[in-house]
Amino acid sequence: MTTSQQPRVQWLGRWGFLLAATGSAVGLGNIWKFPYITGEFGGGAFVLVYLVCIFAVGVPVMMTEISLGRRGRGSPVDAIRRVVNESDRGSVWSLVGWMGMLCGFMVLSFYVVVAGWSFAYVWKMLTGGISGTSVDDMVAVFTAHNQSPISLGLWSTLVTVATMFIVGKGVQKGIERSVGWMMPGLVLMLLLLIVYGFFSGGFGEAVRFLFAFDADSLSSAGMLAALGHAFFTLSLASGAILTYGSYLPKSASIGRTAIGVAIADTVVALMAGLAIFPAIFANGMDPGEGPGLIFMSLPLAFQSMPLGTLFGVLFFIMLSMAALTSSISMIEATLSWLCDNKGLSRPQAAWSAGIVLWLISTLAMLSFNVGADWTLGGKNFFDWLDYLTSRFLMPLGGLGMVVLAGFVLKSQTFRDELALPPVLYAAWLFMVRYVSPLGIVVIFINALGLYQV
Ligand code: PFF
Ligand code: NA
Repeated sequence: MTTSQQPRVQWLGRWGFLLAATGSAVGLGNIWKFPYITGEFGGGAFVLVYLVCIFAVGVPVMMTEISLGRRGRGSPVDAIRRVVNESDRGSVWSLVGWMGMLCGFMVLSFYVVVAGWSFAYVWKMLTGGISGTSVDDMVAVFTAHNQSPISLGLWSTLVTVATMFIVGKGVQKGIERSVGWMMPGLVLMLLLLIVYGFFSGGFGEAVRFLFAFDADSLSSAGMLAALGHAFFTLSLASGAILTYGSYLPKSASIGRTAIGVAIADTVVALMAGLAIFPAIFANGMDPGEGPGLIFMSLPLAFQSMPLGTLFGVLFFIMLSMAALTSSISMIEATLSWLCDNKGLSRPQAAWSAGIVLWLISTLAMLSFNVGADWTLGGKNFFDWLDYLTSRFLMPLGGLGMVVLAGFVLKSQTFRDELALPPVLYAAWLFMVRYVSPLGIVVIFINALGLYQV
């Protein structure tokens, strides 16, 4: 049971929530994953479906999460329990909160490994550790980096420590202050990279690739990937947005804020595409290279370009900051829960969560070297974390949330929190009752392999 009787801390500045939630949303999902899945699923048509998913499913779900957080003023577990009590519904629904908190923790356990790659590549670029003339050379650099558990572990440990250091300082002095300079810095670096891309030769081709609509390239697998990625990229069903929403002042408009975050996230994903694909096309590379696109193709492309090292360093610094403003949001649900229920201070909560996280992320990191054979059903530990969160916990948690909002809770809760004009409220309700659950059930059935498209 909750012990804290003090009023809950709130974002200090007017832009606090918007910056923090945008920081959470904008991350490896936008800069690492979005470009390569767009490459894999064929470009423009995929981007269009993705946009529909973001605005038809992502935004209504995000509005639901922020409302639950602000209404319940607590971690996902506590907030959902309170809101459910208010509607006289059974406590079994707080499972949705537990699932979200667990999901955020699990995502973070493998996210710090990928973020560690990015930090390491800043260092490698600065010290000339990335050299070679072919994609094979770049694969060798990347493979060698992953081979040593000590150095790989040091980089992911660094990300873990940085994350815990920031969240340990609290919501205002830690999270709000760091996103306050990292987010503007990130946008500035991205703009510089796009200008660079503009002069590097492949810009027209990149624009055509991202925006030309070619219905033939649209597969149903691509449509499902787009919906799944919409959840991940907006940080949904992981406790992050809900907990950030629990610090949102009563006066802020939830609908407007959710749309703001979704637009910012989308713009950054498209900008990342415009920063990356010109270099890829200018060097005659394949846009469908997969997860190695930015760690293997991109460094090679930069190497052959004037000022390439400088912009390569800039690129990986930007990626590292984007990852950090996301990682701090993934642990905030757990931190809030520990502080409210176990009487820990922020730093105590941060370091205790940090130790557990470190142990699990170390296992994830070992999947790239000594633990590569520790597999179950063909997947190593890292793969399992990714698979369980994106295929099960996120869709199920999202489903739980929209079912709660659409069918279980009193509608007054959302009328109060969203404070929308009747037409917009009806539109939101229609989305959470019918469109979102249907979309989620389709991804989920596909993930279970009951129906493969
Ligand atoms: N939205 C982040 C990204 O696109 O990289 C990932 C993420 C952040 C997922 C926070 C879940 C979360 F709770
Ligand atoms: Na994102």
